[in-house]
Amino acid sequence: MKRVGILTSGGDCSGLNAVIASIVKTGLPMGYEFVGFEQGWEGVLSPMKYRPLEAKDVRGIAFLGGTILKTTNRGRFGAKVGAGGVRRIPSDVLEMAKENLDSIGIDALVVIGGDGSLSGALQLAELGVNIVGVPKTIDNDLCATDRTFGFSTAVQVVVEAMDRIHTTASSHNRVLFVETMGRHAGWIAIRAGLAGGADAILLPEFPFKVADLVEYLRFRQQAYGSSIVVVAEGARIEDELVSTAGSSSEVMLGGVSNRLLRDIEAQSPGEFDMRGTVLGHIQRGGTPNPADRILAKAYGVEAMKAVHRGEFNVMVAYNSLHMTTVPIAEACGQLKTVTTDAMEYQTARDLGVFIDGWSGPHR
Ligand code: F6P
Repeated sequence: MKRVGILTSGGDCSGLNAVIASIVKTGLPMGYEFVGFEQGWEGVLSPMKYRPLEAKDVRGIAFLGGTILKTTNRGRFGAKVGAGGVRRIPSDVLEMAKENLDSIGIDALVVIGGDGSLSGALQLAELGVNIVGVPKTIDNDLCATDRTFGFSTAVQVVVEAMDRIHTTASSHNRVLFVETMGRHAGWIAIRAGLAGGADAILLPEFPFKVADLVEYLRFRQQAYGSSIVVVAEGARIEDELVSTAGSSSEVMLGGVSNRLLRDIEAQSPGEFDMRGTVLGHIQRGGTPNPADRILAKAYGVEAMKAVHRGEFNVMVAYNSLHMTTVPIAEACGQLKTVTTDAMEYQTARDLGVFIDGWSGPHR
């Protein structure tokens, strides 16, 4: 009988449990047994934290948020630096992981994580560990796959919040800011902004001038009375990244909308009645929506099939509506960000939404 290890690593998101359940349910009838490592890569390092995963452990968990295996985006295996950069994990840490996996007879390891977790996985694969990656992140910033699971639910949470925020904006004639997660990629902001009817969408990929935004808001307030501005947490004000804390390599983002509100107030004192809402971790928590449940289940099945085929050092991917596998290396080391040829960017610009500028009073 072959033993497969599973771990969830990095920030949690909706759909993790659906992937875990799907791997186990696919692999048990094939004759595999499963071990779940707890708290991400930390569970693989000494002292190891793991437990068997049997059918009873994964029954009825697919609709639950979070991860039954727990996770961390910190620790000894951290390989992520800034926007897509990769840190070399110390060789003694990599060797410890390899020896520990060998000591309990792990034949293959399924790593459910984002770019940092998969960059770590790639370094361990160099020591001969058989790895299959599953692309997880609400940010949808992993290359080589069209979608990561968790993203659709995060977008839905933002849109639901915007639907409520619209009524306060129009009732009070206010400018309301909605700040989303996404780190250095603007996918959550642009898709939610488009779906939720934002008047301006500010993204990490497209710097803007506060004076241009003020001019646009002035027009909008006079013409329509209220405005909704979606701000990605990694958006740059006059090219400055606003962070709350953290090291220079891995900053903690958040607060850009409130800073923007203050900057606008400084440029046009008393002109706008403004408030900000930072949505934060509600975008990551709770039950996955149907799209993420289905994607997560499909990823789990495909990951197990890759293990069974003996196809390692690959990440399962969803491209052009099909499940496939790609080399993990193709997914790591750089981020998939919003570009001017993205359908979402073009649609928003054509509808007159302010992104990196304003081309006149056509909205
Ligand atoms: O990568 C997922 C993510 O939710 C980002 O969008 C966000 O910047 C970050 O994680 C927050 O991490 P933490 O939970 O450590 O604050």
